[in-house]
Amino acid sequence: DSNLFPYCDGTLHCEGVSLEKLAEEYGTPLFVTSRNSLINQYRAFEKAFAGLDHFTCYSVKANFNLHVIRTLSEEGCGCDVNSGGELFRALQAGVEPGKIIMAGVGKTASDIEYGVKSGIVMLKAESVSELRLVNDVAGRLGMKASVGIRVNPNVTAETHPYITTGDSKEKFGIDEADLDEVFDLLKTLEHVDLTGLDMHIGSQIFDANFYEAALEKLLDVLAAARSAGFDIRYFDIGGGFPVTYEPQKPATPIGHFAEKLIPLVEKTGTTILFEPGRFIVANSTVLLTKVLYRKQNHAGKEFVIVDAGMTELIRPALYQSYHEIVAVSQHNSVMVADIVGPVCESGDFFARERTVDRVKEGEMLAVLSAGAYGSVMSNNYNGRLRPAEVMVDGDNAKLIRKRDSFEQLIQNEVF
Ligand code: LLP
Repeated sequence: DSNLFPYCDGTLHCEGVSLEKLAEEYGTPLFVTSRNSLINQYRAFEKAFAGLDHFTCYSVKANFNLHVIRTLSEEGCGCDVNSGGELFRALQAGVEPGKIIMAGVGKTASDIEYGVKSGIVMLKAESVSELRLVNDVAGRLGMKASVGIRVNPNVTAETHPYITTGDSKEKFGIDEADLDEVFDLLKTLEHVDLTGLDMHIGSQIFDANFYEAALEKLLDVLAAARSAGFDIRYFDIGGGFPVTYEPQKPATPIGHFAEKLIPLVEKTGTTILFEPGRFIVANSTVLLTKVLYRKQNHAGKEFVIVDAGMTELIRPALYQSYHEIVAVSQHNSVMVADIVGPVCESGDFFARERTVDRVKEGEMLAVLSAGAYGSVMSNNYNGRLRPAEVMVDGDNAKLIRKRDSFEQLIQNEVF
């Protein structure tokens, strides 16, 4: 959301707050999140699907900071969680269990127990064995678990291979061909109530045709489930809606997905669930990092060594992802450089051979679109401290996560 990260007098701001000032106050590396960007994206999503009986469950895996979850929840948004840990976070952030759904290809008995006990809307099962376990756990609790089946529609969405999930080569969901058997089994499971069907075909999907193809299959499953006597109330389409990382590759507008998908699902007599993650948070946040050193080598390479790395934002290393990188103080000349981190891995770079402002040592860069799968995937490799996080609302900034400390690095070790 470039309007919320404007240059004012040559300095990059988040809403009304100078990123120079935030770096001075909180240090770097620092994640800076625009609260209004979160709200705008959520509202844009809701506006696109306004005509449809639906409920949006923000996929908290994209950014599980309590303030991020709470900001969205205050707007009326629900949550999709992928583990007991994420459920704990959502509940701590104040989300009602009646607005939470739970996914996960490898839920443990304790994840399941926590979900069922909390009274969440629906737990999405991904295997026959899991359905049996849910039945056992709910039986032990003397409860009935509301369950959805995640169907693997065998659609290969075009995106990075690590983030395509709806293909039968991948571990996710139950094959359509096994569903008759699953329905028979479900009739014998007394503590399971089949209330929903679910799919998720991947992430950063530009082409609505993949959703259409998968939905057609899920609609067949809906008909089959109903004729087997199940009262299906929720039809979960998953997440995956794209954002723009590169101005030259603008994401398909959300309205286009709405136009294509609404006619397919509006007459199902169900509540349509969505699980957007990236769409809501990716462009809400920048990763602010300081230039530690510049050096040139004799092969003609120019390196900009910054104080953030793959430990804070692993996407370039893991998925060859492109992130825009801009100077916090604008310059009027540029250079071509590799922007690299301090971690002892050659894969620790944000960009290679990138044209950037001719920044000096001690100046600041902002890695853009760092709100989704940034902080949540950060780690302490190389003894690195996970960064602080700040949320900006208009002219106000507040700390929403402290930087890790050395003490935290060893706190769980028994020594
Ligand atoms: N629902 C389910 C079941 C999911 O597995 C995911 C993402 C989502 C919803 C949200 O998808 P989104 O709307 O954010 O595309 N770390 C990777 C992305 C991994 C996505 C995992 N599943 C990245 O940085 O690109």
